[in-house]
Formats: sequence, structure tokens, C-alpha cells
Amino acid sequence: MSDYYRGKTAVITGGASGVGRSLAFALGRAGAKIVIGDVDASAMTAIGEDLSSAGIDHQICRCDVTDVTSLQALLDSALTAFEQVDFVFANAGIGAGEAGAMWDFSDKDWQWCFNVNVWGAVNSIRVFMPYLVTRSEPTHMVITGSGNGAYMVLPDAPIYTASKAAVQTITENLHYQVQGAGLPIKVSALFPGPHIVDTGLFNSGRVRPEEFAKETTGNESGINSVDDMKRMADEFGFELKTTHPDEVAEMALAKLPGGEFWLHTLTEDHEAKIRRRADMIINSTIPVPESVI
Ligand SMILES: NC(=O)c1ccc[n+]([C@@H]2O[C@H](COP(=O)([O-])OP(=O)(O)OC[C@H]3O[C@@H](n4cnc5c(N)ncnc54)[C@H](O)[C@@H]3O)[C@@H](O)[C@H]2O)c1
Repeated sequence: MSDYYRGKTAVITGGASGVGRSLAFALGRAGAKIVIGDVDASAMTAIGEDLSSAGIDHQICRCDVTDVTSLQALLDSALTAFEQVDFVFANAGIGAGEAGAMWDFSDKDWQWCFNVNVWGAVNSIRVFMPYLVTRSEPTHMVITGSGNGAYMVLPDAPIYTASKAAVQTITENLHYQVQGAGLPIKVSALFPGPHIVDTGLFNSGRVRPEEFAKETTGNESGINSVDDMKRMADEFGFELKTTHPDEVAEMALAKLPGGEFWLHTLTEDHEAKIRRRADMIINSTIPVPESVI
């Protein structure tokens, strides 16, 4: 497996934290050169120092995935530094921190989440695909989605869920188009999990731009970290299972050489939820919500 990555270059958006950070180290340890694009200045400084300490060849760029020009600059700087790009991980994403009734959310809540999660994926496709189609060797375009939206509709985060439903259809369509065109590009959908992954996603407000500042008050979730979720779960008498982002990276890197589309780890519980959803649609039964655990 490790030879598959040796000497290759991987661009990772949202690579300064969480799943992206774990991907950077796993790929770097497997011999890849790493290019990270992110908007979080302090996290970018930290990962730059840590990659240097680990002896991993890398470049860190400020890149906002909501801006095509910024993504183009990321590609250009990767090509200048390492001459080619073999893996693109369109991974940047945010949780809008929504809670309460969706009719109380402001347009800024929807716009910020769709800008990063949906337009971030679209912009990454528009910038990186025209480069990848010029390559005759196999390359990979990996888009990070979420089971919440792709396979099921969990009721607690409607904006996030809607954005990730869109990301799934975009990723699947990209795969069909690449396959139809007979290109040597492998498209994959990465689903961090199987449990809630212990990352900064639940504190995405730290990178929320001023122009999309939260306008509504009184419907905050009260959750700003996985620890908050664990505490809340504890209050309701159940244990919240979590996954370390390193496990997600290891899973993805094990599956990519085989050209797999679905980069996920499904539990029996996930499979049951997916079957219930399919049955509900086929049998036209009234939807009932699934729980996040
Ligand atoms: N944590 C989970 O349980 C979970 C589950 C399913 C899917 N995901 C997805 O995994 C991906 C990675 O998130 P994570 O969980 O590692 O969270 P994270 O917050 O630790 O990492 C996300 C990174 O994206 C960056 N980012 C935010 N806005 C950006 C922008 N406009 N341009 C560039 N970078 C930006 C952040 O600065 C951060 O470094 C996201 O797409 C997320 O939706 C996470």
C-alpha cells in the first residue's frame, strides 16, 4: 500500500485540522508530498511545524475553497513546488452550528454552509479536474461527504445535512462523467466515521467569516466540541462513541489503491438505517427520524 503513495503529491483542502490533518500525516508517512490549503492561520502554522518535525515534504497555502481564484492559486503553487498533483482531497467543510427550527435560521447560516461545503466541492472540481484530465497516469479526486445527507437525513442539522446531500450527488455524478469519458481518474466519496469523528467540526464558528456572521440568537446548539456532545449524551444516559480522525485516514489510504468509490466504514447500525430508509421510500411510509447514535 505504501508504495502507492511514494513520490506522489497530494493536495488537501481543509488540511490543517481534523480529518485533513490526519490525511496529511498518513500520506506523508507513506512517502507523499503534501500541499495543504486552509483558512485557519494558527492551525496552518501548527501543522507546518509538525510536518517539518516529522520530516514530511510539504507546502502550506492560505486557500479559501469558496473562491475559485484562491483554489487556482493553490493548484499553481502545488505545481510550482512539486511539478504534479496526483491526489486531490476536496475535504474542507464546516458545521453551521444550527439548532432549533429551520425557519428561524438566517440566510447567512445557509449561505456560509453551502458556500464552503457545496461550492467548495464544486469549485474544487472546476479548478482541479481540468488539470487532472491532462494526466495520462491514474490520479484521484476524493470529495469528503457525510453519511448525514448522503445515506440518511438526521434531523438535528438541516443545513449541514442538505449541503452533504448535494455533495453526494455532485460526487456521484462526477464519477459517472469521468467513467463515461474513460478517463484514468478515480473519483471517491470519503465518509468520515463510523462514529462522530473527534475533530474541530463542531467548533467551525472559529473560521466563520464576518460577512456571514450569525444573526439569530437563542437557538444555539450549545455544542462546540465533541466533548460537549459527550457530556450531553451522558446527561441523556448513553455513551457517545467517537472515531479518531487517524482511523479515517488509514481507512481511506487502504481503499484508494483499489480505486474504491465508497471510502467508508459501515456499522451494522448504519446498514439497518440505510435499509429502513430504502424501505420507507419503496413502501411510501411516513418518514420517521433516525438518531445520530
Ligand atoms: N467530524 C465528523 O464527524 C465528520 C463526519 C462526516 C463528515 N465530516 C467532514 O469531514 C470534513 C473535514 O472536517 P473535520 O471533521 O476534519 O473538521 P475540522 O474543523 O477539524 O476541519 C475542517 C477544516 O476545514 C477548514 N475550512 C473551513 N472553511 C474553509 C474554507 N472556506 N476554505 C478552506 N478551508 C476551510 C477549517 O479551517 C479546518 O481546518 C468536512 O467536509 C466535514 O463535513 C466530518
